[in-house]
Amino acid sequence: MAKYKIAWMPGDGIGIDVMDATRIVLDVLKFDAEYIFTDIGWEIWRKEGDPLPKRTIDLLNSVDAALFGAITSKPKDEAEAELLPELKGKGYKYISPIVRMRQMFNLYSNIRPCKAYKGNPLNFKDDIDIVVFRENTEDLYSAVEFFPVPEDLRILLNKHPKMKDFANDPNDEMALSLRIITKDGCTNIVRSAFEYAKKYRRKKVTLIEKPNVIRETSGMMTRIARAISREYPEIKFDEVNVDAACMWLVKNPESFDVIVTSNMFGDIVSDLAAQLVGGLGFASSGNIGDKLAIFEPTHGSAPKYAGQYKVNPIACILAAKLMLDYLKEEKAAVRIENAIARVIAEGKIRTYDMGGKNTSLEVAREIASNL
Ligand code: IPM
Ligand code: MG
Repeated sequence: MAKYKIAWMPGDGIGIDVMDATRIVLDVLKFDAEYIFTDIGWEIWRKEGDPLPKRTIDLLNSVDAALFGAITSKPKDEAEAELLPELKGKGYKYISPIVRMRQMFNLYSNIRPCKAYKGNPLNFKDDIDIVVFRENTEDLYSAVEFFPVPEDLRILLNKHPKMKDFANDPNDEMALSLRIITKDGCTNIVRSAFEYAKKYRRKKVTLIEKPNVIRETSGMMTRIARAISREYPEIKFDEVNVDAACMWLVKNPESFDVIVTSNMFGDIVSDLAAQLVGGLGFASSGNIGDKLAIFEPTHGSAPKYAGQYKVNPIACILAAKLMLDYLKEEKAAVRIENAIARVIAEGKIRTYDMGGKNTSLEVAREIASNL
């Protein structure tokens, strides 16, 4: 029997291309795993009215980890329009499966390393080595949203003195999305960031929030981060507002080390940080909880490139590397990362984003031969 059971979830679009490429590397590495192909994504939505069927959820409950490619998602009306005719008008709602999995399995920690590998022509600057810890289950992703706002909720909200600025006309249309932040959510993500900094001897953790304006939610995160930071006196703790952080990330990215932030800010800041080191072709992420972890390239499914084996597979191969770290197969993880670094530095085999002409599979084979 294989040592690990891995849910293999290519999803759709280029998710399939980059997962095929990643498999080449894992196989040459002789990673001792049973890969279980798992249904998820747009095609399953079209045929079954649910992109994350129960059999997939059951399987995820039984594996050691999962590797996930990418999934197409479209706005409500377009999603419904693509359902098989017999499923239309039955009330099926498309909800992003990755967001659902993060919440359903409480994968509270989203870790996103952004490192400028030497010789990558796409690096914004050299010496960037940032790891973003993004809270992964709450905040504006709560999906507690209202439109129109129900009458009873509106009456309750109107007791808040500030509401008079928005709701004095009863016919006003208004939409509400709740930014829910909990003590557990903050504690889990801040703790993960500091534990990571300690393990990998990182020097600094920067909290990115906006407590001067979003007083209660960013305020809670800030209070908790300050308290936890005191348990790690050897690690410097810094607080930066999210707007200023975006500016500093462009101006002075080398000064950032570990970043910790809430879900929505983390979504934005991690794309910015990814672009500093070559874009989404280099951005991997781990969605990690106490019982399960799902690893994925941060990029989407790029339907227009699907099946062309054209896109950069490095983000997905780095996601596999994160998975190996998680499974404590650290030697194998280091081998993958070193091989990637070598292939980037040599610059012979490259996909189009790096100015090359090679396919995703050729890049993967080159990485595999450098293991
Ligand atoms: C990400 C993506 C997702 C998110 C989308 C696909 C729902 O942008 O993983 O950063 O918003 O979290
Ligand atoms: Mg994103």
